[in-house]
Amino acid sequence: MPLREQTTWLRGDRFHCLQPPTAVGRTWRLVLLGAPGAGKGTQAAMLTAELGMCSLSTGDIFRAAELRATGRTEMAEAHARMMRGELVPDDIVLRLIGERRNCLRCPAGFLLDGFPRTIVQAAAFDGLLAAERLQLDAVIHYQVPIMDLVARLAGRRVCSRCQAPYHVVLRPPRIDGVCDRCGGPVTRRPDDEPEAVHRRLIAYIDAIGAVAAYYCRQDRLLTVPAATTPERVFETTLALLAARGFELPRHEPAASAGPPRAPVGAPVPLLP
Ligand code: AP5
Repeated sequence: MPLREQTTWLRGDRFHCLQPPTAVGRTWRLVLLGAPGAGKGTQAAMLTAELGMCSLSTGDIFRAAELRATGRTEMAEAHARMMRGELVPDDIVLRLIGERRNCLRCPAGFLLDGFPRTIVQAAAFDGLLAAERLQLDAVIHYQVPIMDLVARLAGRRVCSRCQAPYHVVLRPPRIDGVCDRCGGPVTRRPDDEPEAVHRRLIAYIDAIGAVAAYYCRQDRLLTVPAATTPERVFETTLALLAARGFELPRHEPAASAGPPRAPVGAPVPLLP
């Protein structure tokens, strides 16, 4: 399945989707929860390749804001907060989500990576979904011990042009500092500096208990142990969805061992 552009999500409802996704079977509406470095982005790429919806990341909106002159002072504030490793204020995040209702109504569904992140956001999102007569299918919570998170973020490198993710030990680019995919510069994300990582982990720990409990009460929470390989985490996620009665796409058995069916950590394109 070709990688889709997410320009509508990144720009807001005034823009039309250039490459609308095609539903694969049912319309999926999923949320991914997890600490910084838990692998939400990695799993989002694998799940969207498998299930056909778009992966929509609030972090990508704030990163894209840096590349575009939006003229909105609130985006400058959001970006500054992100760089420091702080959460962006709820009112800014909720305004952005409200402006992107078209993506939430997409016939192929959606997979939200990094939203909602606070109980205020979760409750407001429920109101938005109710107004649109939509329902979440499941909220998947990836859990990883904190020492593993620190190691993952310390080693993460990202192509600053196409956002392809790398890791200095586990997944280095073929040529040091050069993206395998587009030849762009592979660098450290500014909010992966140790001080910002520390703040991001604290912000996560402060908020996650209430958010997880909120979705647990709705019986939508699926908890996935995620300190293993990306492929194993992906298989566990699909198994838990299947155990909840969701029908998954069928695959013909492969005649021979071929490439993996979903790319690990496919890039999320940002705006030119
Ligand atoms: P966001 O972009 O959402 O960042 P994050 O939540 O901190 O998550 P990361 O992107 O760091 O990690 P990930 O879980 O996606 O892991 P990944 O797959 O990349 O948000 C950035 C900022 O925006 C926030 O700090 C905040 O300021 C703001 N923001 C966004 N949404 C907001 C909201 N709703 N409210 C308020 N503020 C908001 O993997 C990490 C590394 O580990 C990679 O190197 C990868 O290759 C590796 N890896 C992945 N899986 C595995 C595995 N299974 N085994 C080994 N290595 C793995």
